[in-house]
Amino acid sequence: MGDITVSGGKNTAVAVIPAALLCNAPCTIENLPDIEDVHALIDILRDLGAKVDYVPDRSLTVDASGATGYHVPFFQTKRLRASYYLLGALLGRCGKAEVAYPGGCDIGSRPIDQHLKGFVALGAKIEDRGGMVYAKADRMTANDIFFDVVTVGGTINVMLAAARAEGNTVIYNAAKEPHIVDLANFLNSMGARVKGAGTDVIRIRGVKELHGCTYTVIPDQIETGTLMIAAAATRGDVTIHGCIPTHMEALSAKLLEMGVRVTENDDSIRVRPQGEQRAVNIKTQVYPGFPTDLQQPMTSLLCMANGVSTVSETIFEQRFKHLDELRRMGAKIRLMDRTVLIEGVREMYGAPVTVTDLRAGAALVVAGLMAKGVTEIYETSYIDRGYERIEEKLRSLGADIRREKI
Ligand code: EPZ
Repeated sequence: MGDITVSGGKNTAVAVIPAALLCNAPCTIENLPDIEDVHALIDILRDLGAKVDYVPDRSLTVDASGATGYHVPFFQTKRLRASYYLLGALLGRCGKAEVAYPGGCDIGSRPIDQHLKGFVALGAKIEDRGGMVYAKADRMTANDIFFDVVTVGGTINVMLAAARAEGNTVIYNAAKEPHIVDLANFLNSMGARVKGAGTDVIRIRGVKELHGCTYTVIPDQIETGTLMIAAAATRGDVTIHGCIPTHMEALSAKLLEMGVRVTENDDSIRVRPQGEQRAVNIKTQVYPGFPTDLQQPMTSLLCMANGVSTVSETIFEQRFKHLDELRRMGAKIRLMDRTVLIEGVREMYGAPVTVTDLRAGAALVVAGLMAKGVTEIYETSYIDRGYERIEEKLRSLGADIRREKI
């Protein structure tokens, strides 16, 4: 019950921070979430020689003028999935990059073949050996790139590599997520010439030099959605401030279909209970469809909906590790290929459960809020990668949630 303000976006932050390597002047980035993925990128940029001043909850200033490095070892890249953006940023900065394959959530095979295809099209030679990607280009030159699959990471990485490539690059079948648009806006505030972000064709006219800037990243679409789901799960009357309602339309529509009251204002969304919550069918899609990152928390909510729901995961083939944990809490769930069949139950019970990936963690927090009794959630470091002080936010809304050292 009450009001909460959402943090800046994780998936935009991890794209914008490496982009500061594309110029040799200070870039100040505001509204960054104070999360592990941001801390990991700060360490990586400092090790590359960039000067980084960070005031948590305030701003981050990166001055890459002294950055001479282009090697990012595994002990650093394994800390976050988005470390592969260093490939595009370093290729865009100096035409060479040696970056170990990333870490990140185990939700599927997560190849980067499309990223590498884009780099080769821009003139880079790629060697892939010993868990490292070695990329080198005498000169980055523009090209047309048609992605075989819609890939957020691939789109972002090619934007980073193409920003200073000579000529006009066109990305076809580009991803359209809000953080793609945010990165384009950041690059353009540095003097880049990126057009069409948010559509499936992005045109980038390479420029020789980029300059510093001050930029405020957009709010976190997935944290906003997680808080909306948590409000519905606890039948609370919650207003989420500082969000962008148009980013949330797919989820808002599903909550309304369930019978939850959702009211949109300019920069806030109010979620209220309205009687029973009906079962619905969900199919994850690329933006603006239902986000795969909300599939897991939504599955938790549907465990106590009235009727049988289905959740089909079309993006990642193994994004189901939270199901076993939900079953421990009394959920009636069956997995058939990539579709979860959920029979709503009247009651769920607290239990000791283990987090396996970031959004599975969010799903278990939502389930814990719904369940009778105490739920102990282990391996919470996954959650801290993508949610800023989630227990403080939920406690301020009346949740009985606390973190304990074991
Ligand atoms: C980004 O992952 C996000 N991560 C994910 O959020 C998000 O779930 C995903 O986009 C989809 O929205 C970050 O932004 C750091 P993709 P990414 O490339 O870039 C296949 C979270 O919880 N593919 O859009 O890895 C791939 O296997 C995380 O915040 C290729 O085949 O996603 C997948 O099936 C989890 N070849 C599909 O495309 C490639 O070269 C979409 O992947 C690249 C991707």
